[in-house]
Amino acid sequence: MARLLVCVSDYEKEARKLLPFNALSYYKSGAVDEVTLKENKDAMNRWYIRPRLLRDMSQRSTSTTILGHTVSAPIGVAPTAMQRMASTDGECANARAAARFGTVFTMSTYSTSSIEEVAQHAPSSLRFFQVHIYKDREVTAKQVRRAEAAGFSAVVLTVDAPIPGIRREDVRTKFTLPSHLKLANFLTNNMSSRMKTSAAGFDVFKDVKSLHDPSLNWGDVAWLKRLTKLPIVLKGILTAKDALLGLEAGAAAIWVSNHGARRVDGVPPTIEALPEIVKAVDGRCEVYVDGGFSSGTHIFTALALGAQMVFLGRPLLWGLTCEGEEGAYNILNILQQELDSTMVLSGCATVKDITRDMVIRKEYYSRL
Ligand code: LAC
Repeated sequence: MARLLVCVSDYEKEARKLLPFNALSYYKSGAVDEVTLKENKDAMNRWYIRPRLLRDMSQRSTSTTILGHTVSAPIGVAPTAMQRMASTDGECANARAAARFGTVFTMSTYSTSSIEEVAQHAPSSLRFFQVHIYKDREVTAKQVRRAEAAGFSAVVLTVDAPIPGIRREDVRTKFTLPSHLKLANFLTNNMSSRMKTSAAGFDVFKDVKSLHDPSLNWGDVAWLKRLTKLPIVLKGILTAKDALLGLEAGAAAIWVSNHGARRVDGVPPTIEALPEIVKAVDGRCEVYVDGGFSSGTHIFTALALGAQMVFLGRPLLWGLTCEGEEGAYNILNILQQELDSTMVLSGCATVKDITRDMVIRKEYYSRL
């Protein structure tokens, strides 16, 4: 009998066997030497949990809110590109899984399903749309208007990608989008013919680089704010200084992220970057985090350090690869069960009970 997949790493191991090598390389790789990719994971184990005991845990809940929407757990789906490489209905399946679980699905601009398709396939889902501000501002403006019309609830602006990162793995594999897939959100724009798969496939390094705008600056955040009434989440912030500028620019939330370690190699793991940002923001807007999370213990630690929501990208891709929508749904449920278990065994009946003093750096114990 086949063994059950019971945790994120079980799904990851299985997905690594199932995915075609170019899709796997694209999903799993990080920038340059992949130091930050490894650190995102390793840093989770530098924190210990300090459980409180003998508190009545019979009534409890993992539910919370994000930008005023109730979700069943502080666990959200991060944007990842080209999800149909993982399963036939890619983003649509992932959005449906998030809706069934009761959390937010963040859709990548570089999706292989369109904004409208996802809205149609997961009409009851809470959806955020991730955008880039391109050299041709009208491309971004059109996508934002489409997301508004399709009932998306927030715009997540990627601020850490004025140019794409260097991922050696994609160069080695000569990564191209498989020819039966399309970057669906670009098909109605002028560049559709260029972005459509050609015989040579979609060249991520050439076409995406040509769209991104190295002149990106805080004035462009103001432009986006004028463009839409939707709340704006700034994704990719790693310092207190930029978090404060984000607040000034009117961000509804700061999303601490190093882009899954796919931009600057050598930046801190997000679990380490989080506390200074939480401190600087001081409750004036919501703070989210992503990067290397793969268990309820990790999520508990981030909540204790002040994150309101923890987002995961790759784990959902492993779920989609192994079992489609059901796999993505299972991943979310596994993480919630692990979070619930950590909460109960640590004496936290609600996410508000997970306070800063419940986690401590490992070094504390060597100083005793
Ligand atoms: C990536 C780009 C598309 O990191 O944001 O895959």
